[in-house]
Amino acid sequence: MINSRALAAQTLVQLVDQGRSLADLLPATREQLPEEERGFYQQLVYGCARHYLSLDELTRKLLNKPIAHKERVVHMLLVVGLYQLWQLDLPEHAALYETVDATKPLKKPWAAKMLNAALRRFQREGDELIDGLQNAAGYPGWLTRQLRQAYPEQWQDVMAAGNVQGPMTLRVNRRKADRAEWLARAEAEGLEAFACELTDSAVTLAQPAPVFALPGFADGDVSVQDEAAQQCALLLAPQNGERVLDACAAPGGKTGHLLECADIDMTALDVDESRLQRVAENLDRLGLNARQIAADAADINAWWDGNAFDRILLDAPCSGTGVIRRHPDIKLLRRPKDVDFLTQVQDRLLAQLWRTLKPGGRLLYATCSILPRENSERIAAFLQKQSDARLLPLALAGDAPTEFGVQWLPQPGGHDGFYFALLEKIDPTPAA
Ligand SMILES: C[S@@+](CC[C@H](N)C(=O)[O-])C[C@H]1O[C@@H](n2cnc3c(N)ncnc32)[C@H](O)[C@@H]1O
Repeated sequence: MINSRALAAQTLVQLVDQGRSLADLLPATREQLPEEERGFYQQLVYGCARHYLSLDELTRKLLNKPIAHKERVVHMLLVVGLYQLWQLDLPEHAALYETVDATKPLKKPWAAKMLNAALRRFQREGDELIDGLQNAAGYPGWLTRQLRQAYPEQWQDVMAAGNVQGPMTLRVNRRKADRAEWLARAEAEGLEAFACELTDSAVTLAQPAPVFALPGFADGDVSVQDEAAQQCALLLAPQNGERVLDACAAPGGKTGHLLECADIDMTALDVDESRLQRVAENLDRLGLNARQIAADAADINAWWDGNAFDRILLDAPCSGTGVIRRHPDIKLLRRPKDVDFLTQVQDRLLAQLWRTLKPGGRLLYATCSILPRENSERIAAFLQKQSDARLLPLALAGDAPTEFGVQWLPQPGGHDGFYFALLEKIDPTPAA
C-alpha cells in the first residue's frame, strides 16, 4: 500500500518533470492516504519543493552517476530522504529506514541498497556537503539574479524569508466582531493568537489550525488572509453607496473584505469560471453579495455595461514571487518568459480598466510580486502614457525604496511580499 514517503516521491516527479502545480496535485493525491498520514505527506511535498534545487544538488554529490531518467521516482525518493535528514527533526534512523522501505510500495526493491548507502553517507558527511552547496537557498538562477539586482542590500534576506513557511493570518470581519473580542473567544477555546501591528483587523495564529477549529469561521466572523492582502481593501477604502469593481477577484478574499468595509454595489470579475465559483462560496459564508462575471477584464466590450466605477481593485495576475513561502513550487515552475508575458497582461489590464473608472475615481493596482518589473515599472509606464492619471501617496511604509508605489517584502513571522499603487483619475471638470 502507498505511504506518505512513496507518494511524496511520485508527486515530486509530477511537479518537477511534468510542471504540475502543488495546488493542482495535492487535493487529489492526499486522498490516497489515510487521514493521519496526510499532514506529514504535505509537509514532505512542500518541504522538498521549497528546497528542491539544493536537495537535487546534494543527490549529485552523493551518487557516482545520476539515477536513470526512467527511474525518476527513485531519485525523488532520495530527495525525500535527504529532506528529512537535513530539515526535519525526526529520529534519523527512522527517517532513513522508512525512506528505504518506501522502495517496496514503489516496486523498486533494487534501489534499496543504493538509497541506504547514499543516505548513510549524508548522515556522516552532511555538514560538509551542505557547506559546499552552490545553491543553498534553492532559488533558480534567473530569479536570484533579478532579486539581487532589485534589492542589492536585501536579496539574501528576501530569499531566506521565502524559505520559511508563512504564518496563518486571519481577518476579523469588522461587521460581525471586534478583534479584541475575537481574540478573547480564541483564547477561551485554547487557540493561541495575537493581534498584528499593521492592520486593526488582522490576527496571526501561533500555530496553523484547520479552519473549522476557528471560532465563528462557518458564520463568517473570520477569514484566512495575510496581513499584506488585507491592506488592499483598506487602501482602496470604498465608501457606502459606491460602485466597486474587483477585476481579478477569485477566490474572493479581497472581494469579501471590500464588502465588509462598506455597503457597496460590488462587481466581482475573473477570467477563470471555476475559480469564480470559490468567490460565490466565500461570499456565501460571509453572508455578502456581489454581481459575479466570468470574463477577461481587459475585454471591456464583453462585460462592461458602460456605468463607470468609483473604485477598482486590480489585484493583477503576477509571478507570485512575494508568496513563495506559501507556494514554494513557484521556484520550480516559473520561467523568465512567464514574467515577460505577465507584464503584458498587467499593462493591458491597467489600460483597459482605466477606461471603466469614473473621473475622480480610484484604482488600486496590487500584486503579490516582489519584482519591480511587475510593480513600480508597470506603474511608471502607465503614468507616462496616461495623462489623466496621478499616483496618490500611501500612508504605508515600504520595505524597499521605490519611486512609484509601495513595495513590501516578505517578513519572517509577518506579512507576505506585496506591492501597492493607488491611482486617481484626474477629473477635468471638478465641482466649483
Ligand atoms: C492574484 S489572483 C486574485 C486573488 C483575489 N483577488 C483574492 O484576493 O482572492 C489573480 C486572479 O486574476 C485572474 N485573472 C488572470 N487574468 C485575468 C484577466 N485577464 N481578467 C480577469 N481575471 C484574470 C486569475 O484567474 C486569478 O484568479
